[in-house]
Amino acid sequence: MGGRIIRLQSVASTNDVGKRLLRDGEPHGTVVVAAEQTQGRGQRGRRWVSPPGGLWASLLLRPHGMSVAQAGLLNLAAAVAAAEAVSSVCRAATRVKWPNDLLVSGRKVGGVLVETSATAGTTKWAVIGIGVNANFHLDVLPRRLRTTTTSLRHETGHTVPLDALLAEIRTRVGILVELLETGEDEQILALWRALDSTPGREVRPARGGGWHGRAAGIDSWGRLVVGIGKRVTHLPTSRGVVIE
Ligand code: BTN
Repeated sequence: MGGRIIRLQSVASTNDVGKRLLRDGEPHGTVVVAAEQTQGRGQRGRRWVSPPGGLWASLLLRPHGMSVAQAGLLNLAAAVAAAEAVSSVCRAATRVKWPNDLLVSGRKVGGVLVETSATAGTTKWAVIGIGVNANFHLDVLPRRLRTTTTSLRHETGHTVPLDALLAEIRTRVGILVELLETGEDEQILALWRALDSTPGREVRPARGGGWHGRAAGIDSWGRLVVGIGKRVTHLPTSRGVVIE
């Protein structure tokens, strides 16, 4: 994936900048990266704490022939690309947790937020927002996050070369997006399954409710397969669940 890199100091959210650029005609391949975000966004409207030292980037895509159904797999593809890039550049074994978490030593070190626009069942554009907690001390995180979240510097003792990590993420996202464009969805699913830490974990609805189950993996649409007693259900990424 080629294209210009727009480097910003402080911005509300690189995804918001990316969406604005795409609406104004920005071509495929541009990357927006910021030193810090003041209103970083996570999944399901949650706040994403984005202090200096992290990698906060949005990759702008104008895919060819990607259906809306496949766009659901972009989330998984981007998480795989980012996990592989972190493993390779930072030498920290990185796994994924459905649908968009990057984990090192079982704790969250990054996440992905994909936003898309479609016409007539085809994906017109997509913003792949990737956040990696790279080079900051855990003290800068709110206390409630410190047991579940970590940073790469904390885990490895080394400073992450942010530009090298971004370059690696970009290359790998480009490769996986091409696989989706050529209909190789199964390959994305296989790559995800190889890194997936979700199976066997307990699952319950984020808003509370009467059920809890156990994750069994993902189906061919990237939905989470959950066993609830003798029943099996398939949850889309939009479904808010807590996975312990
Ligand atoms: C999550 O795990 O909830 C997703 C986090 C995604 C964070 C990234 S940082 C760059 C981009 N800009 C945002 O506002 N969010 C994404």
